[in-house]
Amino acid sequence: MVKRYSFDPFINTGAVVREVPLSSSEPKPFSLSNGVFSLHMDEHMRIYGLGESIRGINKRGWIYESWCSDDPFHTEEKRSLYGAHNFLLFDGEERFGAFFDIPGRITFDLGYTDSDTVVITPERFALDLYIITGESLKAIVSEFRTLIGKSYLPPMWAMGYGQSRWGYVTEADIRRCADAYRDARIPLDMLYLDIDYMDSFKDFTVNSERFPDLGAFSAEMKERGIRLIPIIDAAVKKESGYDVYDEGHREGYFCKDEQGEDFVVGVWPGMSVLPDFLNPQASRWFGMKYKRLTDLGIEGFWNDMNEPALFYSEKGLNNAYKEIKELDSKRLDALSFFGVRDTLVRLQNAEDDYKSFYHETPEGRVRHYDVHNLYGYRMTESAYNALCELRGEPPLLFSRASYIGAHRCGGVWTGDNHSWWSHILQSLQQMPGLNMCGFLYSGSDIGGFNGNCTRDLLIRWMSFALFTPLMRNHAAFGTRSQEAFAFGDTEVFRHIIELRYRLIPYLYRSLKEAVERDEMYFRPLVFDYEDDEIAATVEDQLMVGDRLMIAPVYRQNAAARHIYLPEPMTQIRMHEGDISTEELNEGWHYVSVPLGDVVFYTKSPLELAKPARNVGELNFDDTETVGS
Ligand code: NOJ
Repeated sequence: MVKRYSFDPFINTGAVVREVPLSSSEPKPFSLSNGVFSLHMDEHMRIYGLGESIRGINKRGWIYESWCSDDPFHTEEKRSLYGAHNFLLFDGEERFGAFFDIPGRITFDLGYTDSDTVVITPERFALDLYIITGESLKAIVSEFRTLIGKSYLPPMWAMGYGQSRWGYVTEADIRRCADAYRDARIPLDMLYLDIDYMDSFKDFTVNSERFPDLGAFSAEMKERGIRLIPIIDAAVKKESGYDVYDEGHREGYFCKDEQGEDFVVGVWPGMSVLPDFLNPQASRWFGMKYKRLTDLGIEGFWNDMNEPALFYSEKGLNNAYKEIKELDSKRLDALSFFGVRDTLVRLQNAEDDYKSFYHETPEGRVRHYDVHNLYGYRMTESAYNALCELRGEPPLLFSRASYIGAHRCGGVWTGDNHSWWSHILQSLQQMPGLNMCGFLYSGSDIGGFNGNCTRDLLIRWMSFALFTPLMRNHAAFGTRSQEAFAFGDTEVFRHIIELRYRLIPYLYRSLKEAVERDEMYFRPLVFDYEDDEIAATVEDQLMVGDRLMIAPVYRQNAAARHIYLPEPMTQIRMHEGDISTEELNEGWHYVSVPLGDVVFYTKSPLELAKPARNVGELNFDDTETVGS
């Protein structure tokens, strides 16, 4: 059952698709005072949800803030990442879900300040609150999901493995990568193009020296079973003569400052402007620009920098120049030096800038700051609607920033993580929260984006990520190569990626069913074993689809780990490409998992396809059944 409480919302966020009558009662179990929602927690209460966020599956004990942030350091100290996913599931003596539908900032203090108390503070008291009850944790999630509408389902080939790297600059770089995968006989379905394919980082352009004929190149790759997936950034270079800028400027499709002039920011292309994705005409206009690339045979995209990320604004930069100029160099002591440095650092994603531009929405002019968390969502929606219209079917599409609602239009990747062991576990712990909020097609940069990856880290990371619907290896410019062929011995990676392909019949069916039935693809154990107190404390294993359980190794040098089985299951082990099984009883086990082995568990027989070079070559009718 869903109850809706309305507190002066000023804009329809678009997150909810079902009409829910207003409730006039108190928003119980919360008490509400001075615009703050609070709740006393019993000793055993656990809290799930909050989509893409840091720390454990049970969120109790930390403080979170929904504020879509371009932050490349996902440490435990952080409160916000790229998404704003304001759904929580409280599991204590009282059990219910709560969705705070608010386009701006909101803070969730989940027992951080006072360990027994939840304090939820919307910065501006203008929101809809939905309280959702149901018979089980799964039922509450499904009820919530019917409220927010069906999740995005990608084309089946998007279940293949993808390779990306910021630093493949030319067609030759991409071809070399494809050849290396072919030579190592490692399956591959997608190669991603990062910003370097563009001309001076201008959206919807192609650098003709680096990619002389992108249409022909994409056809050549497709012939080999590989799709090219270009990036699109939110900001548009401010350059007269660049038709996308000229057109958008003429039509008034960019966000405006107080005086009604285009608000100018600095991002990859230098001085740029921000398409007003909250203006339906501007949104459609931008979306239709993807046609330039679909006309070249492109079938999928990743949308980036759409928090929106601002390196600086023209206004901020001018102020900083002034401050620096005013400094008397003779008095540049340590304090003033740090002052200048901080002035420059503070230019990035400055709150003051987010307060300085406006959107033209159907509800009138709104300040960006008050609707900040909708920007990435609306960019994804713009692309999704146009691409469905242009192609007659959904594209592959995923985004960095998001709000609930975007789950209907695309997936998400979890942004700029690091080549750190702790980020394998973090990725695992992010998946159920994302699934609760409808983001099923999701995954993290395998091997880590920032920093330098090692062979063992990549093996372990892939052994987990082969179960994530979005399986993409991506790395930052200047970091060490981390492709599956980069560490010399390719066999071990071939076996792991082949296992992914062998599992696609099961994984894709599970994803599709989760979409159709408003369910989760990844679940914490306690969602399936509600009366099992041990299952409720397991933070490093997940259920995948209706019968699999995974328990990856995520510690350096570990060759074994403890796993908990809530019921007897068949252990499936992939060792050097061979599959073996063993029946295990319920309870704790210490399982040996040497580097390169992938070990997982099934409750009932599982079909495995024969290995294939790409999804198109998979034979769904020729499967072998393992487990009992
Ligand atoms: C930031 C994105 O998160 C990252 O994946 C991408 O490689 C860089 N932008 C460059 O486009």
